[in-house]
Amino acid sequence: MPPPALAALLEPWQFLALALSYLPSTLLTHLLALDFSTLLSWPRLQAAWFGRFWAHVGPMIRTNAEAKVVPLLQGSVTHGVIPPSASPSPSPPDKSASHPHPHPHPPVSGTVLEIGPGTGMWTSLFQPSTLPAVTKVYGVEPNPAQHPALRRAVAAAGLEGTYEIVPLGIEDLASSGKIPLGSVDCVVTVMCLCSIPEPRHNMAQLYGYLKPGGRWYAYEHVKCFRSQGWGMQLYQAFLNLIWPHFIGGCEMCRETGKWLKEAGPWSDVDVHQLEGEPWYFTMPHIIGVLTK
Ligand SMILES: C[S@@+](CC[C@H](N)C(=O)[O-])C[C@H]1O[C@@H](n2cnc3c(N)ncnc32)[C@H](O)[C@@H]1O
Repeated sequence: MPPPALAALLEPWQFLALALSYLPSTLLTHLLALDFSTLLSWPRLQAAWFGRFWAHVGPMIRTNAEAKVVPLLQGSVTHGVIPPSASPSPSPPDKSASHPHPHPHPPVSGTVLEIGPGTGMWTSLFQPSTLPAVTKVYGVEPNPAQHPALRRAVAAAGLEGTYEIVPLGIEDLASSGKIPLGSVDCVVTVMCLCSIPEPRHNMAQLYGYLKPGGRWYAYEHVKCFRSQGWGMQLYQAFLNLIWPHFIGGCEMCRETGKWLKEAGPWSDVDVHQLEGEPWYFTMPHIIGVLTK
């Protein structure tokens, strides 16, 4: 077995190869359906390819990410630290550990905008058993290839009356007039700000939907941190020459944490690098909550 650092450095190539393996079946499906509008349009074909790929890898990714996303949405992540009780195999509490951010956040509640829900990997978290004060969720998902799985996730969670799929990109939300500015209690973005167009502009747009006091819960992979060394930054930039073309437009080198902080004036910012990620991760994360 390769050492963990080497395995982690090679992992993106395995992921790319896995993504590529879903291209022939995507092409064949649309060819058999004589769906030339998809076959002859790269954005549509890429969306269909990504939808098929994500339906299969999404559950694996969820298994890794849920120990972070569940406590994040429940408001117990501060300063990039996952509380020990939230981890799947809790280690004994470290009495010397101090949480520099003193106040845990309220859980996700009220009217929620979930951006880029994809196949609905996190839909079940909006059930009353996990987030009891959620009253309405708008799932803003532009990729039609994901909608059938997302609809199934909504039905399986028994959230038909609560979770509404908005089949638009965030960039088209304002012109649709679907959701009034200043009307949303919480924005939830999990591994999606890597994929939206014009991220800085659209993050500022999303800020506008929050009520005063509204909260934005984010778990996103980002550009390698300076602390990881220039070699990792270079390696990530090299991977990113190919990555977005294979992975549905996902950009590896975004400074999402910085841009979130700049999205508008916040009363509280508790977004940090996820604690404990080693230097050799090509996809380091930020995690946390910003309060308007
Ligand atoms: C990497 S997937 C993550 C999906 C989901 N959040 C999860 O954790 O499984 C990124 C998602 O962002 C969506 N997306 C891409 N462009 C978008 C846009 N302009 N507005 C909203 N969502 C978008 C994609 O369709 C995709 O479902």
